[in-house]
Amino acid sequence: MFREYWQRCRLSGFLLAVSLWGSAAFCQLSTEDHLNEPGFWPTQDVASRDSFAGSDACAACHGVKAASQKETPMARAAMSASLSEILHAHPLMIFKQGKYKYRIESDTSLSRYSASDGKQSLSFPLLWAFGTGRVGQSYLFKKQGADFFEARVTYFEKLGTIDFTPSRALLSPSGIEEAMDRPVPHGEVVRCFGCHTTGSSVGGRFDETHLVPGVTCEACHDQVPTMSSL
Ligand code: HEC
Ligand code: HEC
Ligand code: HEC
Repeated sequence: MFREYWQRCRLSGFLLAVSLWGSAAFCQLSTEDHLNEPGFWPTQDVASRDSFAGSDACAACHGVKAASQKETPMARAAMSASLSEILHAHPLMIFKQGKYKYRIESDTSLSRYSASDGKQSLSFPLLWAFGTGRVGQSYLFKKQGADFFEARVTYFEKLGTIDFTPSRALLSPSGIEEAMDRPVPHGEVVRCFGCHTTGSSVGGRFDETHLVPGVTCEACHDQVPTMSSL
């Protein structure tokens, strides 16, 4: 076993020497080492959008890996709300707490999150679903501007419906807005997407329009610059 390990390290050293693969990730590295290795960290930032080829490009040669990776919870760590199987399977979910009533209603193309206090009600389309539901699936949306809000409710597999988002329960919110959501500060948005999607920040700038949902090949492997030298 040791021999195998050693040979692998040596092989990767060899590959490195011929500059085919820019990563020595096969020799045991600590988290700190990984952090210092630009090509190996899910929340890595990259200089340019061109350094992402997308998993389909990898699938051309690593077909089996690509097919199995797609099925992992990591690959499905985030998705557009319109693609959430959980939302499609539960077209109406309701949760009540005191005078507040929460609902998520979905049709084939849109999920709408609403809250009501009996007098006033607010409603917004959901944009992003985070998580496979194994523990839960949480939702992000926008009101009018560019800022993200996190729904106060999350879907839980064990309940088969929505309840308060973990550690976000409010027993006496100041009003409907606070009851409904939590504004997510920009720095936290960047981190959420950094961990749950691929290529969400490029050159230090968060760009939700080009990200690849989920943790896919290039979240961990920085292969494209080296691939192009093949
Ligand atoms: C043109 C074919 C081709 C494409 C496209 C390709 N690879 Fe590879 N890759 C290879 C070959 C050949 C090897 C070496 C043999 C092996 O380990 O399977 C390899 C090896 C690797 C390795 C192991 C490196 C090592 O040190 O042993 C990783 C990681 C990898 N590829 C990731 C990727 C990723 C991520 C993508 C997409 C961005 C990608 N590859 C696209 C052909 C390709
Ligand atoms: C530092 C990385 C990181 C950040 C930042 C982060 N997450 Fe996560 N998240 C994870 C990991 C890793 C897991 C899996 C944890 C586990 O299974 O024990 C996870 C799990 C989850 C789950 C449960 C997933 C499931 O399949 O059941 C949800 C929902 C979730 N995160 C939502 C969010 C939201 C929303 C944000 C931002 C407000 C966020 N996360 C920020 C790394 C992160
Ligand atoms: C969550 C991080 C992560 C993701 C996502 C990921 N990999 Fe890997 N990959 C690794 C690690 C860590 C290793 C080294 C594992 C080892 O030493 O066996 C590895 C090893 C490899 C290897 C070489 C060893 C082998 O098993 O053949 C290839 C090729 C590879 N990955 C390709 C891919 C492709 C293609 C994708 C996307 C479909 C992908 N990886 C997604 C972390 C990841």
